[in-house]
Amino acid sequence: MSEITLYQDGQHSNILLPDATGEGLAIQANHHIIIHDGRALMLDPGGHKVFNQIFPGLMSKLKGGLQHIFLSHQDPDIVAAINGWLMVTDAQAHISKLWTRFIAHFGIDRFLEDRLVNISDEGCWIDLNGAELAIIPAHFLHSAGNFHLYDPKSKILYTGDLGASIGFKGREVLNFNDHIQYMEGFHRRYIASNRVLKAWVNMARTLDVEILAPQHGALFRGKEMINQFYDWCENLECGVDLIHTKIQMPPKN
Ligand SMILES: [Fe+2]
Ligand SMILES: [Fe+2]
Repeated sequence: MSEITLYQDGQHSNILLPDATGEGLAIQANHHIIIHDGRALMLDPGGHKVFNQIFPGLMSKLKGGLQHIFLSHQDPDIVAAINGWLMVTDAQAHISKLWTRFIAHFGIDRFLEDRLVNISDEGCWIDLNGAELAIIPAHFLHSAGNFHLYDPKSKILYTGDLGASIGFKGREVLNFNDHIQYMEGFHRRYIASNRVLKAWVNMARTLDVEILAPQHGALFRGKEMINQFYDWCENLECGVDLIHTKIQMPPKN
């Protein structure tokens, strides 16, 4: 699947890179970059195979190099190759303060550690070469220390694992009701609870969003489609909502 330009004006562009995850065991993942005046922010760069595929082409595209890496949370499909990215760029990598010491176990060289930037629970704004990007708290959606990124210029809300779909082949949702089957199992298991979904929807409805872009599967384009996603989230029972029984020993073989 080829690259898609989601937004472009004179100095600002938002690009969904070609799918680099391949056909193996690794879960499909989307890789997005935001470029402002030649410098870039990369979202959730992923693991080693993806790094080897994406890096050479990406650097030829950027005049001013990679300024920031945003890590929505600590999972391997997001962070595993972070040492490589820090080695070959001058970028700062931003992640929840909950995870900095854990992701060091992916093998971050000591001399690169000071380019890991802690995001505190309330979020922050990142300056990308003059463009302001909001890092919005999205804790427990699914990780305990989790953030989304909102770009006010392109009106794209990047939602990490929220909105993820598994097994749908397209890059864009065409029919919301038909798409639920690809999202439902993932959200019921990985998202912590309906309570936190409701709180997130209340926040998200205050933003002007034209594209909602998850880290896995298809993106949602247009307010009508995005509102259908918000409505679905508000009513979804998931995570601890579904724990109704006692915890039992596993059945014997
Ligand atoms: Fe995750
Ligand atoms: Fe993920």
